[in-house]
Amino acid sequence: MCGIVGYIGTKSALPILVKGLRRLEYRGYDSAGIAVLNQQSEKNSETTIERVRAVGKIDNLAEKLKTMTLNSTMGIAHTRWATHGGVTEENAHPHTDCSGDIIVVHNGIIENYRELRSGFLKDHTLRSKTDTEILAHLIEVHYQGDLRLAVQKALQHVRGTYGLVVMHKNEPRKLVAARLGSPLVVGVGDKEYYVASDTSPMLAYTQQVIFLDDGEIAEITDHGLQIFNLEDQEIIKAAEHIDWNEDQAEKGGYSHFMLKEIIDQPTVIKDALRGRLVEDEGTAHLGGLNMTEAQMHSVNRIILIACGTASYAALVGKYAFERLAGIPTDVEVASEFRYRDPIIDRQTLVFGVSQSGETADTIAALREAKRKGAYVRGIVNVVGSTIARETDGGTYIHAGPELAVASTKAYTNMVAVLLMYALQFGRTRRVTVATGQRVVAALREVSEKMEKILRQGDYIKMLAEKYQHYKNFFFLGRGINYPVALEGSLKLKEITYIHSEAYPGGEMKHGPIALLSPDFPVFAILTKNQLYDKMRSNIEEIRARQAPVILIATEGDEQAKELADDVIFVPPTMELLEPLINTLPLQLFAYHMAVLLGRDVDRPRNLAKSVTVE
Ligand code: G6P
Repeated sequence: MCGIVGYIGTKSALPILVKGLRRLEYRGYDSAGIAVLNQQSEKNSETTIERVRAVGKIDNLAEKLKTMTLNSTMGIAHTRWATHGGVTEENAHPHTDCSGDIIVVHNGIIENYRELRSGFLKDHTLRSKTDTEILAHLIEVHYQGDLRLAVQKALQHVRGTYGLVVMHKNEPRKLVAARLGSPLVVGVGDKEYYVASDTSPMLAYTQQVIFLDDGEIAEITDHGLQIFNLEDQEIIKAAEHIDWNEDQAEKGGYSHFMLKEIIDQPTVIKDALRGRLVEDEGTAHLGGLNMTEAQMHSVNRIILIACGTASYAALVGKYAFERLAGIPTDVEVASEFRYRDPIIDRQTLVFGVSQSGETADTIAALREAKRKGAYVRGIVNVVGSTIARETDGGTYIHAGPELAVASTKAYTNMVAVLLMYALQFGRTRRVTVATGQRVVAALREVSEKMEKILRQGDYIKMLAEKYQHYKNFFFLGRGINYPVALEGSLKLKEITYIHSEAYPGGEMKHGPIALLSPDFPVFAILTKNQLYDKMRSNIEEIRARQAPVILIATEGDEQAKELADDVIFVPPTMELLEPLINTLPLQLFAYHMAVLLGRDVDRPRNLAKSVTVE
């Protein structure tokens, strides 16, 4: 996720900005940039804006800066994690307006940037492919000598999310910062202010901070800080003291990246859905598919290729494509697919599903599918990654950088995107407007329901305490919840090293039931859906073998309590969307077990985040 640092005060800005960017490296980035207002010399008081940008590591930027004399006590800097436009110097922040007098760094996504580019701003000279550059030009349109007012007016044109910091050459001792959906914090020092996307770049200098809330704009000068809302009313906020160290700050105060990423899910799922759901028509529109309606109609088979967690997200996709679109869909583990002789033709649509976009087996399998003439598309998190570049279209899942090896938020966003694709195809085939609208509405409600589950964190931690001494676990689910069981089991084994197996409920009696005993707890997903009664019978069979049972059940299901030793209640949702809800308690359970067992949660043994070798 992009990172912002800004500084205004009495010290030399450059070292503070560069050090601040390094503190934000953990967020993931692919390019970096810096801009300062440069006073030539004491005698020559002319102010210029100096901007330096570089692709790749911050070291590349620092190397370029070495050769320059940038004499300034204020500036802004940015690490970019590409969302719109490739990884190039032109696309790196800061961005300017036509005149070059306004300079801006931005986190978030401007949804309507295409419309603005070709409409309201059509006479402007745009130099990058980013959504951010639009902001500089909108501010330019409204600038009449007061930067804050211009920013306020500019933001009224914008749909989407932002955390931004702006400078203007004509107001050389002022930073303006604004937030909607992307965090910004102001650090209050002695005659100096810091502004950043989290507290980590400022903690070496101050622990007094003000967290901006959505819809707030801060005007920061040498003399002080004023905060306004979008209606131009001043808001009085006191600084608060935080006693995190820099490492804690990187994790947003959470003890591990994995926990932070689990907690991020209600937010990032909105990023996956943003701008892609069409309420009126009860459909989704994923423009990156790059297929005409005729081509979409010609598809008679879908293959989803992936590895690990991505393959379990893909399995949810299979159920969704078959149910909504009626298109036969298979999930293939990439390492198997590439060495089979897969039957593919020009009516086959192949999706590569991958967080990193760099998994060697998935890349090779997609190349094979392409060679055989299929339509090949990507569902990827990392912008500009190999899969994103080599496929003929597809969709970014917008989960932001995922740093823990065990995937969590990328999984839920992959599922969300696959559901949207299934809906988009379904609406061209058998899904009615009314059904489509119900899916859209249910997708919109997921974020809030996820929050509800996360509020049960302490209860799930208590369950982990109770079950931490067991050496084996089963995870059971049926239908759309079978992939959930697979993912819950994978999470547990990846980060706790406890043996666990996942089975479809109905398959237990064909072998695995022989393993059951009071020492073999079973995690089962028994939510209220069309397979409820079937799953219930499977659980009765397990109870008869005295195995402890932990259930994930729908709120209000009193019978579940009688069936189980412990129950985690989850809010009801449409059956196809259940994995977006039901997976979260399993992620939390695995996480707390790993912490209790003293495991290296974010970097479990023998595993790599991105497997770029066969
Ligand atoms: C590795 C990671 C898993 C991930 C899998 C696929 O095994 O440890 O967390 O699910 O690769 O990665 P991808 O980047 O293709 O989604």
